[in-house]
Amino acid sequence: MEIQTFEFKVHGDERGSLIAIEEQTDIPFSMKRVYYIIDTAEKTRRGGHAHRTLQQVLVCISGSCKILLDDGGEKAVVSMDKASRGLLVDRLIWHEMYDFSPGCVLLALASDIYEENDYIRKYDKFLEEINT
Ligand code: TYD
Repeated sequence: MEIQTFEFKVHGDERGSLIAIEEQTDIPFSMKRVYYIIDTAEKTRRGGHAHRTLQQVLVCISGSCKILLDDGGEKAVVSMDKASRGLLVDRLIWHEMYDFSPGCVLLALASDIYEENDYIRKYDKFLEEINT
């Protein structure tokens, strides 16, 4: 399956680094929501769903984690450990996040507000929806 990642420019100087992400130029959609996952308990898996319409870019801004992407036919695992790298989680992609390092901060930039009706939370329902 095709994995789409984005390398954000790191503005670095003797003070440190700054990374800016602008909608439509650095990521391919407009953002309506930002959320972040912190304080993850050891051995936790998060996600475990797909979205019908939502697009997201995930950025591991501190620490590391792994992200499983599954289009219903193929699966891919992406290791996230750079604050300058975004991963597209497109609509109708089953995704799971795991192997969170202590102190991991996973930032999500989302194309829409939170809408429970946009979630497909059962894997067999996901397979059914992508095949219709
Ligand atoms: P959940 O969907 O279980 O997160 P994940 O898929 O990362 O494991 O969401 C956890 C809780 O947070 C749940 O009660 C819904 C709520 N939530 C919001 O209120 N707004 C949001 O933008 C998100 C992503 C979740």
